[in-house]
Amino acid sequence: MASLNVLIVGGGIAGPAAAYWLSRIPSAKITLIERSSQMRASGQQLDLRVAGVDMMKKMGIEPAVRAVRCREPGTQIIDTDGRTKGYFPAAGHGGGRQSMTSEYEIMRGDLVKILYSLTENSPNVRHVYNRTVENFTQGNENDPNSKVHVIFSDGHQEDYDLVLAADGTGSKTRKIMLGPDAPDPRHRTGGYIAYFSIPSQPWDSDRSTFCQLPGPHMARTIITRKDCPELTRVYMILGKRDDSIDAALKSGDLTALKKAFADIYADDWWETKRFMRALLDTSEADDLYCTPYEEVRLPEGSWSKGRVILIGDAAHSATANGYGTSWGLIGPYLLAGELASRYEKDRPFPTVSIIEAAKKYEEIWRPVALAGHGGSAFAGSIFPPQVGGWH
Ligand SMILES: Cc1cc2nc3c(=O)[nH]c(=O)nc-3n(C[C@H](O)[C@H](O)[C@H](O)COP(=O)(O)OP(=O)(O)OC[C@H]3O[C@@H](n4cnc5c(N)ncnc54)[C@H](O)[C@@H]3O)c2cc1C
Ligand SMILES: *[C@@H]1O[C@H](CO)[C@@H](O)[C@H](O)[C@H]1NC(C)=O
Ligand SMILES: *[C@@H]1O[C@H](CO)[C@@H](O)[C@H](O)[C@H]1NC(C)=O
Repeated sequence: MASLNVLIVGGGIAGPAAAYWLSRIPSAKITLIERSSQMRASGQQLDLRVAGVDMMKKMGIEPAVRAVRCREPGTQIIDTDGRTKGYFPAAGHGGGRQSMTSEYEIMRGDLVKILYSLTENSPNVRHVYNRTVENFTQGNENDPNSKVHVIFSDGHQEDYDLVLAADGTGSKTRKIMLGPDAPDPRHRTGGYIAYFSIPSQPWDSDRSTFCQLPGPHMARTIITRKDCPELTRVYMILGKRDDSIDAALKSGDLTALKKAFADIYADDWWETKRFMRALLDTSEADDLYCTPYEEVRLPEGSWSKGRVILIGDAAHSATANGYGTSWGLIGPYLLAGELASRYEKDRPFPTVSIIEAAKKYEEIWRPVALAGHGGSAFAGSIFPPQVGGWH
């Protein structure tokens, strides 16, 4: 019996979602590889929105998501003395579908675990950690039985009928697929978003709390959120690039990154002083994570090449626009549908059918997935541009 041998690179949101849908194709054999040495169940609060909520229900994980979701009552905007200036209840708490707090807020790590659990006991899905793709080549597109020849980081080689790149905004798989001469499709669209945890105080609000700081040199916003009793999560949004942050990101020096942010937020508005002291002095804040605002902009028709296909942020990332998670679940479902409808049981999957499915997937999904680019469709964003001011 001919099996469909699939490699999925990246165990974030889109990777495990794709593993789940593809595992339902008869005779599919799936390997999901993750670069980290264990499940990368980190990150802050994510929200599922609009069609992402329907998708989650379709995957049968709504009860699991409900069981761990963050009970954030809503979002408030405060002034620099901490006084509430506006309040927007969460969707499902009297707020509409477009509220800043979605009905389904969940910690990223919890969602990753739930998605992995969908295929943990599947006989046709294998999860491998501490593994990445070193390089690959593929046969001619006119050869119906061509394969993708993959060389892994540990040196071993294997052939696949299909490779899905789910390795995020900085996708290495995408780089190999596009070729050495292709320009980097990542475009900077503003400053940064960064988050860290601090020990909480009894007066920290359980609302998502936005405070825009005045100051001459750049737009700075502080947001706090609270998903558990012991910790308060502090988010920092910066409107512009900064040399010391770029240098710290490049070197991976956590202490330098902390210092760069503490320098920029070195004033006394609201509780900024307390937050920055905790950033510098407490181990809770060692989870500091920072990413520049950027978008992946690929030319039309370049989401796939032969038997290699991009999904999730690797295809269409737009940092923190509020849709990344929902889109990361929906894209793999659409692609799996296109593949499944062209798949004939017990027969090899011809190259031309895979290419057709990949093109169709891009054709239907690209216009929606790119709608949040360029700040043009911010209707449901948790960080509306007028608050962050990074455009
Ligand atoms: C650690 C982390 C924290 C995040 N925190 C937040 C957050 O707080 N809020 C928010 O809105 N969004 C966050 N994001 C982004 C968010 O998860 C994505 O925008 C979205 O869910 C789409 O998911 P994705 O699966 O396409 O990409 P990602 O979630 O980025 O997942 C990509 C996965 O691929 C792995 N990987 C990368 N390169 C390779 C490689 N070469 N080989 C093998 N594996 C590789 C990564 O370790 C990661 O597990 C975070 C992402 C990461 C990786
Ligand atoms: C990958 O393999 C191709 C073809 O053999 C080669 O041209 C390219 O340099 C290799 N790339 C890397 C990153 O090793
Ligand atoms: C990860 O894999 C590399 C080889 O690719 C190996 O040298 C290293 O020991 C592995 N690390 C863990 C934690 O398994």
